[in-house]
Amino acid sequence: AFVAPDDCLLTLFDWSVERIEGLLDRAASLKAAYRNGDCSRPLVGRTLVQIYDKPSLRTRLSFSAAMTQLGGSDLFLTSKEAGLLGREDPSDVAQVLGRMADAIVMRTFGQERVEALAADAAIPVINGLTDDFHPCQALTDLLTLRETFGEDLSGRHIVFVGDGNNVSRSLAIACAKLGVQFSLCSPPGYEFSAAFLERLEAAVPGSEVEHTAMPAAAVAGADAIVTDVWASMGEEAQKEEKLRAFANFQVDASLMAGAGRDAIFLHCLPAHRGEEVTAEVIDGPRSRVFDQAENRMHLARALFVELLT
Ligand code: CP
Ligand code: NVA
Repeated sequence: AFVAPDDCLLTLFDWSVERIEGLLDRAASLKAAYRNGDCSRPLVGRTLVQIYDKPSLRTRLSFSAAMTQLGGSDLFLTSKEAGLLGREDPSDVAQVLGRMADAIVMRTFGQERVEALAADAAIPVINGLTDDFHPCQALTDLLTLRETFGEDLSGRHIVFVGDGNNVSRSLAIACAKLGVQFSLCSPPGYEFSAAFLERLEAAVPGSEVEHTAMPAAAVAGADAIVTDVWASMGEEAQKEEKLRAFANFQVDASLMAGAGRDAIFLHCLPAHRGEEVTAEVIDGPRSRVFDQAENRMHLARALFVELLT
């Protein structure tokens, strides 16, 4: 398997518990400082290159805002514009980026494209979402959970009601690392693959991901219910089939009522009210989705400070 360079964030499999907790501590303290008007600019003169092959609001904006606030600047490209789709050898592109830029955020389809860039660029590469993983979102979700439940999340129970996709995979890894109980509740056929579960077991021996197909039973006593779109970017052709398969997996008020008394609702956004979640839940008192969205920026600031200073 590909071994990611130390200064990259590609999957979270290779990030230690100490490193994750250190980053979350840093994000929390940078958030507090930001709210108190701190304008320190440790990254003056640094350049971030962002390469996106799928749409984005939060990821693109959070990394762009974070780099600008810290004194640096950012450039936005697609793989095509960067020359990665045939104009030149991808390894040459990576090496050139490494000579001129200080960090890269990439959002694309195959995980191997992010890994290839990381292998040859010699600067930090951050996975801004692939078909397989969304590590920045998972770290942000932990930050948001900490704000509700305190720094020590061990023993908490998170239930992801939805697809075994990039977002739920990364959250499962993050939870396993921090000793948070994680359950995936999906229709048959949309659970985690055996290959993913083996990789998780190798990274965090003894971690157990519970899988169930019965939402009401799955959420009993949970501290957080998390969901995501049923059809991810790139799965447009499967949308109708997934709408049918997930029809009984909507997070609604009665499902929330079955979770723990202080349970919160999380969704990485974009959301589809009336599909994976009702308006009553996502716009209701237990929802933390806009804290979650804002926290993407604080997490991005912490990542840059961690990786570039
Ligand atoms: N949550 C998230 O990654 O949002 P975007 O797709 O808008 O970046
Ligand atoms: N699973 C979704 C997440 C969007 C942030 C997708 O990949 O489209």
